Amino acid sequence: MPEKVLTNRDLESMIDTSDEWITTRTGIRQRHIVSVGENNSDLAVGASRAALEMAGVEASEIDLIIVGTLTPDMPMPSVACLVQRELGAGKAGAFDVSATCSGFLYSLSIADKFVRDNPSMKILVIGSEVLSRRTNWEDRTTCVLFADGAGAAVVTASDGDSGILSTCLHADGSVWDLLTIKGLGTAHPIDQELLSKGWQYIEMKGKDVFKHAVRALESVAHESMEKAGWNNDDLDLLIAHQANIRILDFLRERLNLPKEKVFINIDKYGNTSAASIPIALDEAWRSGRLKKGDNVLMISFGGGFTWAGVTMRW
Ligand code: ACO
Repeated sequence: MPEKVLTNRDLESMIDTSDEWITTRTGIRQRHIVSVGENNSDLAVGASRAALEMAGVEASEIDLIIVGTLTPDMPMPSVACLVQRELGAGKAGAFDVSATCSGFLYSLSIADKFVRDNPSMKILVIGSEVLSRRTNWEDRTTCVLFADGAGAAVVTASDGDSGILSTCLHADGSVWDLLTIKGLGTAHPIDQELLSKGWQYIEMKGKDVFKHAVRALESVAHESMEKAGWNNDDLDLLIAHQANIRILDFLRERLNLPKEKVFINIDKYGNTSAASIPIALDEAWRSGRLKKGDNVLMISFGGGFTWAGVTMRW
C-alpha cells in the first residue's frame, strides 16, 4: 500500500460528505493514496518483491509477468514491462490484462492455464491500481470509494492437492456505459472539451452498478463452487472484490454464509479495483484467517462489465 492515508474525516474537509454517510453506505473508513511521483509500477514492484520473498523464488526464475490493471503508468509500455525491468526478471514475457476490477482473477486464470500447459513455469500475477489519479475529487459520489494499492502472487505447479480448482470468466459489454473512464483512450481527442466534461475520470451509475454487481457475483459464486464440486459447507473463506460493504453483506446472506467465512478489509483500503483481491488474500494469509488446506472462493465484478470466480485449495 502507498504510505499516505486519507480518512473519511479528511474527505469531510474536501467535499460535502460525512464519515457517517461514507461508513454506512460503503463500509470504508480510510484508504491509501499515492504521493506525487509514486506510480502504479512502483506499487506493483513492491508487491512483487514481497510475493517473491514469500514464495522463495528469484526474479530471474520468473517466466511470465501478468498485471491486471485499469490505471497503467502510461498506455505504452505496459506496467508488466516496467515491473520486469525493475525486478531484473530478464527471461520473463510481460503483459497487462484490461479487465477492470476482475483484472487479478482474469490474470490468475491465464496463469493457471499456462502452468497446466507447462508445469515448469513460474508466473508472477499482479493486481495494481492508482485509481486516485482517475478520480474526480470534486465528485462526492465516486471520490469516497476508490483508492490505490497492489497485491501479487507467484503461481507455480503444485504436487499435492492444493491449488486452483476452477476458474470462471464472464463479461457483458452491452451495458459498458454504466461504469467508465471515457477519455484518455483513442476514441476522443484529449482537448479542453474532454477535460471540461470530466471524461478523464471514473464515471459511475452507482445504483445500476450495484444491481448488476450483486446478481453477477452471486451467480459466479455458485458456478465456481459447482465446478469445484463444493457445496456451501465446503467453503472456508470467501474473498470477494472489496467494492462496498452492502454488496458483501448481501452476498453473505444470499450464499447463506456465517460472518467468519467472509473476509472484509474495505474499511482500511476502500475499493482498489484489481488490487483488492490479492491485498485481501495476503492479509487473510498473514493474519491466520486463511490456513493451509482451506477452500477459498474468490469473486470479482467491475466495469465492462466483467466478473469472475476462482476456487482454490490453499
Ligand atoms: N456523501 C454524502 N452524500 C452523498 C455522497 C457522499 N459521498 N454521495 C452521494 N450522496 C448523496 C446523493 O447526492 C444523494 O442525495 P440526494 O438524495 O439529495 O440526491 C444521496 O446521497 C443518495 O445517493 P445515491 O447515489 O442514491 O446513494 P446510494 O445509496 O445508491 O449509494 C453508492 C451510492 C455507495 C455509490 C452505491 O450506489 C454503490 O455502492 N454502488 C455500487 C458501486 C460499486 O460498488 N462500484 C464498484 C463496483 S465496480 C468497481 O469496483 C470499479
